[in-house]
Amino acid sequence: MLEEIKKLRSKIDADLQAISSAEEAEAFRLKHLVRKGTIATLFERMREVANEEKRLVGKELNQLRAFAQSGFDEAQIKTEQKSKEPIQDPTLPPRKLYHGHEHPIMQAKARIQEIFIRMGFTVATGPDIEDDYHNFEALNFSPDHPARDMQDTFFVKHGDRDDLVLRTHTSPVQIRLMKSQKPPIRAIMPGRVYRNEAITARALAEFYQVEGLYVDKGVTMAQLKGTLFEFARAYYGKDIKFRFRPSFFPFTEPSAEMDITCFLCDGKGCRVCKYSGWLEILGCGMVHPNVLRNCDIDPEVYSGYAFGMGIERTQMLAIGLDDIRLFYENDVRFLSQF
Ligand code: PHE
Repeated sequence: MLEEIKKLRSKIDADLQAISSAEEAEAFRLKHLVRKGTIATLFERMREVANEEKRLVGKELNQLRAFAQSGFDEAQIKTEQKSKEPIQDPTLPPRKLYHGHEHPIMQAKARIQEIFIRMGFTVATGPDIEDDYHNFEALNFSPDHPARDMQDTFFVKHGDRDDLVLRTHTSPVQIRLMKSQKPPIRAIMPGRVYRNEAITARALAEFYQVEGLYVDKGVTMAQLKGTLFEFARAYYGKDIKFRFRPSFFPFTEPSAEMDITCFLCDGKGCRVCKYSGWLEILGCGMVHPNVLRNCDIDPEVYSGYAFGMGIERTQMLAIGLDDIRLFYENDVRFLSQF
């Protein structure tokens, strides 16, 4: 019997050394310390022990049980502490932090603003919900102009007013500026505009424009061209060439559209420029005398130029993107590239 106690003791000792987790400690307890465990089994065999040895064997067994119990208690404390400690490997690379950033359209807007601010323009804004007067009438749109049509304009009902619209362009801000300030006026007007159009790869129903306006004595078309060329060189790159094509807007006369050479193919012709070598980037012109008059500015004394561009479109061309909808799908795989 004493021999068996000795054997079990060295077995228990080895088992205790091997404990390295809470699960292993529990397995130890179930093997040795419970009512059907190894120690209890030996206690039950006390009956077989000769009377004169009972004292000695009982003492040895009690010592063995105390040894196993205290070893187990110690192991339990150790493994618990271990599981509370975070895994600390100072050589691991840090976890990658994902920073948010500005939306590519807001980045483009900031860049456009910065270029014009450098040239002496201020930044003005106006309301998204406009009235027919500021959005159309004061801008010299005739009463039957197709842009007022249900096809293009979102009308807004509010109380008994039936003349409210979601602005279809940023040009009404021109009117608000010219009515509230005396020339010289030199401002750009960024903002969101709305058109009742089917959403396609090239058109959205909501998008951003930047308008520009300069009114003073002796403002000329040559100044308009110079300013826009400077802008285009700063935005698209120094090597571009430009051309003006005659166009029509009710609020400018003469009116033009500005093209730049396609910087993706250097004017040779590619998918983005539809093999023409040219990209249309904005509309512009000299402020129509009727518009100046509507704002109590004498067209005999003052003249002005205006221009307007879509930010999404400007940005599409700058990066050679062929689907405008990507800007608003909130796909991080797309957005994180900016
Ligand atoms: N408002 C015009 C548009 O939305 C752009 C424009 C602005 C054209 C100013 C000429 C002058 O298409």
